[in-house]
Amino acid sequence: MSGTVSGVQSVVVRHPVAADEANWRRLWAGYNDFYNADVPDEVTSYTWRRVLDPASDVFGLVAEVDGQLAGMALCVAHEGTWSLSKLCYLEDLFVDPSVRGAGVARAIMDHLVALCEANGWSDLYWHTRDTNAAARRLYDSYVKVDDHVRYRMELNR
Ligand SMILES: CC(C)(COP(=O)(O)OP(=O)(O)OC[C@H]1O[C@@H](n2cnc3c(N)ncnc32)[C@H](O)[C@@H]1OP(=O)(O)O)[C@@H](O)C(=O)NCCC(=O)NCCS
Repeated sequence: MSGTVSGVQSVVVRHPVAADEANWRRLWAGYNDFYNADVPDEVTSYTWRRVLDPASDVFGLVAEVDGQLAGMALCVAHEGTWSLSKLCYLEDLFVDPSVRGAGVARAIMDHLVALCEANGWSDLYWHTRDTNAAARRLYDSYVKVDDHVRYRMELNR
């Protein structure tokens, strides 16, 4: 999927390929910094391997802005108990600070919605911090926030 958005000449959203590794790692590192997360390199490598592995339920999207990798999303398509088809969880979304506000995240989200529809997946869902105003404005433009809260036990980390 490609298009023209304000401030940049072109945005192309596509699946990552092996040659994207260095640029994807740069974006991933920026995303980890945003969350003050210290993800071990072996986890990053495992995530990247799964992104490239068609047999994995983990998949990615990247956005090229004027030919440079400037955005990425990571998702997991998984079975559910409430439907016959899979659901898609959007786990990570990041856009390089140098091109923010130009519609890159929206281009990734639009592509992802179209991909879910094309695959016949029943739901696309995600969560973000209550205080993440930029992300929430983007997300609020897709769907109304629901009333679920998150519980999470950290085990075997
Ligand atoms: C959130 C993030 C992905 C948005 O990326 P982006 O490419 O700048 O977003 P877009 O330009 O596509 O903007 C889409 C919408 O988001 C909102 N938005 C984007 N930046 C915003 C900001 N700084 N303040 C308020 N709203 C903002 C706007 O509503 C915008 O809608 P519009 O196009 O109608 O103006 C980016 O800021 C980012 O990577 N942040 C750090 C990581 C993060 O928060 N990830 C998401 C949560 S996991």
